[in-house]
Amino acid sequence: MQKSYTKNMKQHVYIETYGCQMNINDSEVVASILHDTGFEYTTDIQQADLILLNTCSIRDHAENRVFQRLHDIKKIRRQKKHVLIGVIGCMAERLRDQLFGHDIKTDIVAGPDSYRNLPELLLDAQSHKQAINVKLSRTETYKEIIPYRIDGVQISTFVSIMRGCNNFCTYCIVPYTRGRERSRDVQSILNEVLDTVKKGYKEITLLGQNVNSYNYDDNGSRILFPDLLRRVARLVPDTRIRFSTSHPKDMDDELLHVMTECDNVCKWVHLPVQSGSSSVLKRMGRTYDREWYLQRVAAIRKIVPEASITSDIIAGFSGETEEEHQETLSLMKEVGFDLSYMFKYSERPGTIAARDFEDDVPENVKTRRLNEIITLQKKISAECYENDKGKDFVVLVEGVSKKSDQELKGRNSQNKTIIFPRKHAKIGEYVTVRITKTNSATLKGEIVG
Ligand code: 5AD
Ligand code: SF4
Repeated sequence: MQKSYTKNMKQHVYIETYGCQMNINDSEVVASILHDTGFEYTTDIQQADLILLNTCSIRDHAENRVFQRLHDIKKIRRQKKHVLIGVIGCMAERLRDQLFGHDIKTDIVAGPDSYRNLPELLLDAQSHKQAINVKLSRTETYKEIIPYRIDGVQISTFVSIMRGCNNFCTYCIVPYTRGRERSRDVQSILNEVLDTVKKGYKEITLLGQNVNSYNYDDNGSRILFPDLLRRVARLVPDTRIRFSTSHPKDMDDELLHVMTECDNVCKWVHLPVQSGSSSVLKRMGRTYDREWYLQRVAAIRKIVPEASITSDIIAGFSGETEEEHQETLSLMKEVGFDLSYMFKYSERPGTIAARDFEDDVPENVKTRRLNEIITLQKKISAECYENDKGKDFVVLVEGVSKKSDQELKGRNSQNKTIIFPRKHAKIGEYVTVRITKTNSATLKGEIVG
């Protein structure tokens, strides 16, 4: 039975989320668990009785931002002594009880698999006990929880299909903070998809650290990602389905065929390459080489020719030579990524790379290489976007453009943002937009038809 933390008084929880989409979705799971315990979700930190920071450990910078934020939150604590502060997510898992010793007193520390335990942790914190749970689980922890959808506009949302990661890429902290890979029960995914559509959402992104490694034993019959994707797409044929992130090792042709077979599966593949050099990929423990990656890209181009391909790239990994860096630049040109997320390598304590390799690329060299990667990506994106000029795209209208309330914004199937004069279009509708203007980050156009 759920313990009730708040009997009669109305309490509010404010959650600030850092890092990946998985964390955004986890914050919704947390909001749902706390809602059942009597906490209203608030977007106003001043109204909060409980402030949670859902954190990310992927790079040093991400953690520093949270420490800075904890420092700011101190002021709120000074004014309202009863407010409880919790650090949840990957930093909680990585730093554990060190967080209690930080200069702002953290009351609750909860790792990514312990959110069900939050009501009990709250009671402990109230009685001034150190409230910590960083146990990782080997089974799916939140399968029947329907997340409390936090975002105001109900157009696009996420459904987690698997958690954790078994890959142990040598640079990455995720397998340590999020634990082993667990695929969620297929029926609970389908239930959540249906619930989401009932609530009015028009687009669902199936989420996981490696979505395409999904592997669930359904009473003796094995369900892999292509099958799951087909089931989801057929269950809600009027809803757009996306999926992220895909690992190149599991990007098989069958998945690509499902993408073409189902009209409502968006034609976008986020396929992080990390490096264009086979020797760096080997040190990174990525389990594929440059040729394998290029051959997977060729398969995407052949089977789903209209698909956009996006990537993650790391500059200055341990031991990266100038030649290896040049190989990344040449791969970027060869593939022509529509967009990439680009990072400087940040050594994470406890990872295989931190143990076995020296973080020996000087900071100024990392910065220069990252800048070269960013400059090249901008040029490639501008060319990709320029190629879209004159084309018509079906756009799901998601909101008003930042710059003008006379313009709306939305995305096409390829996940590119498109801005256009609003005319009679409404948020949540599909419109066809003809592209008239482009730059390296957006497409602009006019509604046609
Ligand atoms: N340093 C820099 N970037 C990293 N990523 C993961 N770990 C690190 C690290 N230690 C990047 C990878 C991954 C993305 C989510 O973050 O590119 O795909
Ligand atoms: Fe990290 Fe590699 Fe797992 Fe992605 S696949 S979460 S980069 S260990």
